[in-house]
Amino acid sequence: MKDYIIAGNWKMFKTVEESISFITQLDEKLGAAGHFPDDLIEVLVFPPFTSLYPVKGLSPRIKTGAQDFYFEDQGAYTGEISPLMLKNVVDYVLIGHSERRQLFHESDENINKKIKAALVHGFIPVLCIGETLEEREAGKTFARIEEQLAKDLCGLTPGEAARIVIAYEPIWAIGTGRNASPEQAQEAHAFIRKILHEKTGNPEIVRILYGGSVKPENSLAILSQNDINGVLVGGASLKVDAFSVIIENSVQLLNSSIR
Ligand code: 13P
Repeated sequence: MKDYIIAGNWKMFKTVEESISFITQLDEKLGAAGHFPDDLIEVLVFPPFTSLYPVKGLSPRIKTGAQDFYFEDQGAYTGEISPLMLKNVVDYVLIGHSERRQLFHESDENINKKIKAALVHGFIPVLCIGETLEEREAGKTFARIEEQLAKDLCGLTPGEAARIVIAYEPIWAIGTGRNASPEQAQEAHAFIRKILHEKTGNPEIVRILYGGSVKPENSLAILSQNDINGVLVGGASLKVDAFSVIIENSVQLLNSSIR
C-alpha cells in the first residue's frame, strides 16, 4: 500500500475570489464523497501569493504551499517574499520550478539556499527537476537529473534530504499536452529514488511526484507506477472537476491496493 500527494500548481492564475471559490467547491466535493482518506492522500495546492492567506483554513482537507520564496528572512529585496512571511500560512514551498529556472534565471546555487531556508523554517520543500527535450534526445536525461540533485541538495544531512519531496517534471512535457509515458516517468523516478537512497539511506522515505501534462485521462496510468508517489498538476488543476477526477483516481488506486 502506498500513499499519495495530489498537488496543483496554479502558476499565475486565479484572483483571490477565484481561489476562495475553488477551495470551497473542491472541499465540498471531497466531503460529499463520504470519508475522505486524508491520512493517506494529501491534497495540496500552490495558489499565487495573494491568495494564500485568504484561503488559509478554508478546508481541513486541502493543504497549501507557496510557489516560490526568497531565502533571506528580511531585507532590501524588492518584490520578494520571505520564509517568515509564509510561516503559519503554508506547509509546503515549491522550489526550482522549470519556469523559474528558465524565465527568471533561477540558479542551482539559489535553489540550494532556498531548500536549506525552507528546512530551517519548517516547510516541506517540493524540489522540481527535469530535463529539456534536447537533453532527452541526446540521451542525457539521467545525467541532467543527477546533476540537478547533486547541486540542489548539496550539503544536506540524510535527515534533511529525507524531508524533501521531489517533483520530476520533464520540461518537454510541461504545458505541451505531451506527457511522459508512464514507463518513461517510472524509469526516471526509479533513478531519482536510487540517488535519494544514497543520500538518505532509506529508499522508501522520499516522495517523488510526476508533473507534465497530467490530466484526468492519463492520471490513473501514471499513478499506478511503483515509484510514483503522486502528481504535480498544472493546467488540469485549475478546474475543480478535472482536479477532483485525478484525486478520485488516487482514492481508487489506494482502495484497490488495500483490497
Ligand atoms: P501542466 O500540467 O500544465 O503541464 O504543468 C505542469 C507543471 O508545470 C506543474 O508544476
